[in-house]
Parts: sequence; C-alpha cells; structure tokens
Amino acid sequence: MRAAPDRAGRRHEAAPVKTFYIESYGCQMNEYDAAFIAGILKRSEYRSVETPEEADLILLNTCAVREHAEERVFGRIGELRRVKERRPGAVLCVAGCMAQRLGERIQEDAPHVDLVIGTDAYARLPRLLEELEAEGDPLVDIEISAALVYGGVAEMTEWGRAFVSIMQGCNSFCTFCIVPIVRGRERSKSPDEVVAEIGALREMGCREVTLLGQKVNAYRWEGVDFADLLRRIDREAPVPRVRFTSSHPRHFTTRLLDAMAECDSVCEHLHLPVQSGSLPVLRRMRRLYTPSWYLEAVARARARIPGLGLTTDIIVGFPGETDADFEATLALMEAAEFDASFLFKYSPRPGTRAVDHGDTVPEEVKSERLERALSLQKQLSEARSRAIVGRRLSALVEGVSERGSGGWLGRLRNNKAVSLVAARPIEPGEFVTAEITATRGAGLLAAVLDEPPRERAPISSNRYAEVAR
Ligand code: SAH
Ligand code: SF4
Ligand code: F3S
Repeated sequence: MRAAPDRAGRRHEAAPVKTFYIESYGCQMNEYDAAFIAGILKRSEYRSVETPEEADLILLNTCAVREHAEERVFGRIGELRRVKERRPGAVLCVAGCMAQRLGERIQEDAPHVDLVIGTDAYARLPRLLEELEAEGDPLVDIEISAALVYGGVAEMTEWGRAFVSIMQGCNSFCTFCIVPIVRGRERSKSPDEVVAEIGALREMGCREVTLLGQKVNAYRWEGVDFADLLRRIDREAPVPRVRFTSSHPRHFTTRLLDAMAECDSVCEHLHLPVQSGSLPVLRRMRRLYTPSWYLEAVARARARIPGLGLTTDIIVGFPGETDADFEATLALMEAAEFDASFLFKYSPRPGTRAVDHGDTVPEEVKSERLERALSLQKQLSEARSRAIVGRRLSALVEGVSERGSGGWLGRLRNNKAVSLVAARPIEPGEFVTAEITATRGAGLLAAVLDEPPRERAPISSNRYAEVAR
C-alpha cells in the first residue's frame, strides 16, 4: 500500500490510518459506485467505519433524479455540520449525480462541504484529498469523461451477490430525466473485461451477478450487442444467476428475448420501465414507443419466458397529463399485470426539456393518482403472487427474514422475495427448493424442502402463449 506524502514530502508505507464513512442515495448504479469508491479508499490509506462520528472522511453519494432526493441530501449535509464541528479536520465530500448537477453551488449553500466530486471523478479522489490536505481550500471536480467505465472486481454480499457495471451514461434524453445530464453519454465496457470480472467473482463463489447500466440493454462494443454479451457470459463465466437493470423498451429486441430464453444463467426477470400508458404523454416524454407496442413486447416476453417476473417504473402527473391519460396508464398496468411497479410523482428537473411545459398537474392530483396507482399495483402484485402458490421453486437465501420469526429471506429467479421456513439449518448463499405455501400481502411464504433445487424449472403454465401467436 502506498501512502500519501506527508507535509515534509516523504512517502511512507503504512497500515490504514484514516477512516471513511459512505452514505449512498439513489439507484443501484450509485450503490455500485459507493462500493467502487470504498475500494479506491481502501487501497489508499483508509479503512471504513460504521458512523460519520468516527470518520475522517464523510462521503455522501447522491442522486438528482427527483427534487425530493436532493432535499434529503441537503438536510443531511445540514446535520453533518455539527458532526464536523466536533471532529476538527474531518472532510465532508458530496459525490455523485447531485454533485455533478450542482457543482460549486453546493458549497455556496453549505460552506462546510470541503469536496464536491462528480460522477466521473471518483478515481481522482485520493489525489483530491491530498490536494485538500495540502492547500486547505474547498475543491470541486465535475469533469465528465467520454470514455470512462468503472471497472475492477466489485465487492460481494455475504450471500454472494455482486453488481457489475457494463455501460454508463445515456443518450436518450427522455424529456423528464436528468440522468443524461449528470451521467454523460453512453459508453460500454469491453466484453473481455466484463467476462474477466465475472470470472473472478465466480472464483470467489459468487451466486448472482447484476449487470448494471442506465440503459443496460443499449450495451454495444464494436459488433457485440447486449444479447451477445449475455450469451458470452453464460458460456464463459456462468454464475448461477445473472440479472440486469435497467432496460429501455426501445432496445428490447427479439435477439435479447432469445438470449434470455436460451441462457440458463439469465434469470426470468425483466425490469422494463414504461413510464406512462398514454400515447400523447409518451410522445411528450420522448420515449419512442407506443402503449400497444409495449404490451405486445410484454406478451412476446411472457410467451417466450415462462414464469417471467415483470417490473416497471411509472411517472404520474407529467406536465399536461389528463384524467384520461392517467386512466390509460392504469389500463396498461392491468393489461401488463406487473409483478411490481416503482411509482413516482413527476418532479421538474432544471435543464430537462419537460421543464419548458411547466409543472401543470397540481400536487393534490399527483398524490391522488399516485395512491390509485399504488393500490392497483398492490392488487396486481397479490394476484401474481397467488398464482404461484403450491409451486416448488429454487430460492437463493439472502439472510435472516426482516420480520423476525426465525425465518429466512430468499429470492426466486423471477425476483420475488420469499419468507422461508426451514426445518434444517440453512445459510445465506445457499440455493434451496422452496414450496410456496401462502401469500402475505404481496409477499410470499415458503417451506424449504429436502430436495435439490433446480435453478431453471418450468414454473407456470403459459396462458400468454396464445396472445403472442
Ligand atoms: N435509466 C433508467 C431510469 C433511471 S431513473 C431507465 O431508463 O429505465 C429511474 C426512474 O425514475 C425512471 O424510470 C423514472 O420513472 C423516474 N424518474 C426519472 N426522472 C423523473 C422525474 N423528473 N420525476 C419523477 N420521476 C422520474
Ligand atoms: Fe433517463 Fe430516459 Fe435515459 Fe432512462 S432512458 S436514463 S429515463 S433519459
Ligand atoms: Fe439518481 Fe443518478 Fe441513479 S440521478 S437514479 S443516482 S443515475
């Protein structure tokens, strides 16, 4: 390990002497980035601690996707001022998407923030910290790279899951979305690098890899598209489960569907954000598909992949959304029978195109629409869960069930969580055969059977096959 030069300019080899604490907001890409930053710091002269009170470096890894996400971070920055006062010399760093968006404006609002680093500056963090220590003046680094994709073998959870970033950035510029502005243009990691990273994780006993990208299925490296990449991973570095997120419907091709159906390691789960069920709204969002095209894609996917778990993202209250537009969204949700939806109230983001249309839907109407959509989704989730009661499916044990009761938390290949009851000792990272016994709300209860799990088992009769023909 190489330590930073001290004030006299000497370099010295040393055990970790400084401490860091990271708090992460936002999506799985951000969670991945937090682990990447932690890796960089650990290779420098830092070790991690559990609370900001013990840390020499407090880092907030932030999200800018909705105003609420940023307000939470500003609240937290305010709270941390007192922590900093009690610990002279501690460095407060704001990193990630909100840092990228606001740059030095963060320090104008909160002068106790020492360092602001954007989404492509993480690798420069040790140097920036050295500079800060030497000079003492607050620093901002929000330079965006045209080529950088974070690499290196990611950290693995206790039960064997790791994220692998395969592409970064977005060229879509959906009119509501800040991501292309804060994450820069699309760029992909080479297939060799992806396969090598997953191969290394496999050696470490990895059970499940989630491939990450803001538009993961837009992956492209020379002639290799996302379907080719899945096939290569399945052939050359097959971990038991491969997942990916987030997919854009525009890049949801038949080639991808075929690869999902034919690669044993690829889980029967698709997160395919639809955003709205209204054609005029989708046009104004610049999503480049129609509701009927989306539903047809869903029918094809369900027909080709028995037992598919389908999840989505939906925005309510986009500028100009009428009651009829919203009803069309509810109708699409029912037709698609989503297993789960992430539902959001539209939040205007400065710099995006939709801001020009104003924020026309009143807050009470947004809230009411959100409630109605949530309640419909609850019914749909419950029905989707009920449909698999009685089945025997492979579950990966993730840990102790949150609700106590001595049970375990497991996950099915379709991404549904199950509360497991076992008559014998089981442990995180184990694959078990779970017999689904009942639903609890939208969730599932299951008993662990004494039979070897089959990862890819046919799990439902396929009533969608007819729709697709
Ligand atoms: N890359 C992902 C989206 C990342 S943002 C994709 O394209 O699927 C995650 C979700 O946040 C989006 O799918 C959208 O539903 C929601 N979202 C993005 N911008 C928003 C905004 N301005 N207001 C409300 N929700 C928003
Ligand atoms: Fe945002 Fe659209 Fe890109 Fe997704 S595809 S990150 S919603 S601009
Ligand atoms: Fe938020 Fe950035 Fe992810 S804006 S949703 S943390 S890409």
